[in-house]
Formats: sequence, C-alpha cells, structure tokens
Amino acid sequence: MAKGNFVRPASRAGIRDPRNSTFVARLDDLERQSHRPKQISAETSMLRAEDVEIMGELPAQEPLGEAPAPLTVASRMIAVFSPKGGTGGTTVACNLGGTLARIGKNVVLVDMDLQLGAVPVALNLRPERSIGEIMRLAEAAGRGPLQTGLDRHASGLCVLAQGDRIEELPEITTDRLPRLFDALGQSFPYVIVDGLRDFSDHAVATMDLAHLVLLVVTQDVPAVRAAARCLRIFRRLGYGPDRVRLIVNRFQKRAPVTIEAIQNALGQPVEAVIHNDFPLVEQSLNLGALVGDVKPTSRVARDIETITWHYAGIKDPPVTAGFFARLFGKH
Ligand SMILES: Nc1ncnc2c1ncn2[C@@H]1O[C@H](COP(=O)(O)OP(=O)(O)OP(=O)(O)O)[C@@H](O)[C@H]1O
Ligand SMILES: [Mg+2]
Repeated sequence: MAKGNFVRPASRAGIRDPRNSTFVARLDDLERQSHRPKQISAETSMLRAEDVEIMGELPAQEPLGEAPAPLTVASRMIAVFSPKGGTGGTTVACNLGGTLARIGKNVVLVDMDLQLGAVPVALNLRPERSIGEIMRLAEAAGRGPLQTGLDRHASGLCVLAQGDRIEELPEITTDRLPRLFDALGQSFPYVIVDGLRDFSDHAVATMDLAHLVLLVVTQDVPAVRAAARCLRIFRRLGYGPDRVRLIVNRFQKRAPVTIEAIQNALGQPVEAVIHNDFPLVEQSLNLGALVGDVKPTSRVARDIETITWHYAGIKDPPVTAGFFARLFGKH
C-alpha cells in the first residue's frame, strides 16, 4: 500500500452483509434489464434463468470508491471470503496456510472474525496473543516488522486471532489495520486472512490491503446467488476478476449445479476446485490437523496442494505424498 494512500472504508458506507437480500437489486430485475440469451441446459437447470448473468453486462451501479493498491511489502496477502456461511472458508484458509508452513514457509493466518473466529478451534489452538495486543506492538515497532512471536500450530503456521479478549474490541479500529498488516507483511512472506464474510468496515479495510481475495463457493443455488451478490459489491468497490478469484469447495462431478453453470452465473472462471469429502475434512477439523497430515494421498489434500502452489506463486513445488499418489493413480 502506498503510504498515506489508504482509503478509509467508511467512505464506502452503505455496504451491508451480502446475505441481506434487501440490499442488492433482485437478480431477476437485473435479468430483465440485460437482454442476453439464456444458456441453461438441463444439466444446469438447478440455477434458474435469473441466476445467470454476465457481470460485464450489469447495469452500471454507483461505484463505492476505487480499491487502493494492495500492501507494498514483499509479502503476499491472500484473503479468503465466504459469501455464505459454511462454504468452507476456514477450511481453505487453514489448509492453505498450513500447507505452506509444512514446506518451511513463514506464514501467518489472521482470523478477522474478531468475535467468533473459528481458526483457533479448527487448528485446536488456545491463542495466547490477541489481535489487539499485536496491533499495539506493531505500532510500538514504528514502521518496522513485529518484534515478537505469535501462537503457532504444529504445522509451523503462525496464528493471530482475537480469542476471548473481547474487552479489546473497541481498540481494534480500521485505521489501525494497515500498520498491523504492514508489520505482519514485513515479518511473514505469506499473510493469509480468514473470517471475512461481509462488507463491514473491518472486512473492507482488510481486503483493500490484500493482493488476492479467494471467494469460496459451493455447488448450491443459495451459495451461487450469495456469491453473485458479493461479486457485484466487489466490482463496485473496484475489485476486478484479477483481484477476486473463484474457488469451488465440496466439488462433486455429478452435482446438479455444475461448474459451467457457476461460471455462467458469475461471469468469471472457476479457477480451482476442492473435492467433497466430509468424513475426512470433519476428521481433520476434529483433530485440529491439516487434511494433508490426516490423509496426504486424498483428493482433498491434493486439491489443496494445487491451490496452495498456485496462489502462493510457488513454481517448483516440493515432491509430496500427493505427488506419488498422482503418479501411481491412487486416490
Ligand atoms: N471439501 C470439503 N468436503 C466436505 N466437507 C467440507 C469440505 N470443506 C469444508 N467442509 C465442511 O463444511 C463445514 C464448514 O466448513 P468451514 O467452517 O470451513 O466453512 P466456513 O465458510 O468457514 O464457515 P463459517 O461461515 O462458519 O465461517 C465443516 O463442517 C467442514 O467439515
Ligand atoms: Mg469460517
């Protein structure tokens, strides 16, 4: 982020929870305004005509400011956004960060759900530090990196969450977030953020700093509609498809809502999928472990590896158990 260039998200006021359907124009209103052919096959019929829209053809809506340039420090900041509860944002964020940590990268996972963040639970950690505390230390460090250690998962992944220290919440103001993430960015080459599921000031201030926002969607109509609504708001905030990327979690080849239908509905490509395997993901969450530690040869573990190397920009990924499974055709 260029110093002094930060746009206070309050200037983008009026943005509310994307699940609040009264905020954004109804999809079928938009459909009526954009006269384009309906390309729905029997296979994709779970999504109705009004769900299919091409973002570029949407009626112009008032922009809510331009997205500032992301953090300029040498780190890569990736924010994971769940457009609807339970699409798997926390699972993706923990496993993306943990997979990088497992190959020796310095990574911090920040849980921006300040009140009920699920990262510590998903990783079976009881945080000793808090976002409020680290924010104070980041300010005390002037313009430099953090001078202190953070909570750490067995994979080596560092975790920063607010935990139970709700008395600090009023101190965690949006204008202090750039310094916090700047200090983290100087200390860690990878900063992953979870707990973003709305367009609150905190969420927008955080995403304004991120290089990439991964929008995690599942193959069901409510999730796709919620994702469409979020994408429209992202566009108004100045985030194009280069900044917001689509991932399908819990992928099933035979699901009635196909990848093609999702791409049609959202007007941008689905870049990656993570297969559906509830028993395995649930087991890893119950153990506070990474999917790749519980079953390295599983499809989900391999999908997560692929996503991790891709979004972390790792050109020469290490040889892993998943690699051998691929080589010998095991699932
Ligand atoms: N690839 C997957 N296959 C099967 N089940 C999955 C997969 N990914 C996540 N789940 C399950 O979906 C549930 C929700 O996952 P998770 O908590 O990661 O979602 P979330 O988007 O972070 O939810 P929240 O809205 O509460 O933040 C969990 O019970 C998890 O086991
Ligand atoms: Mg979550």
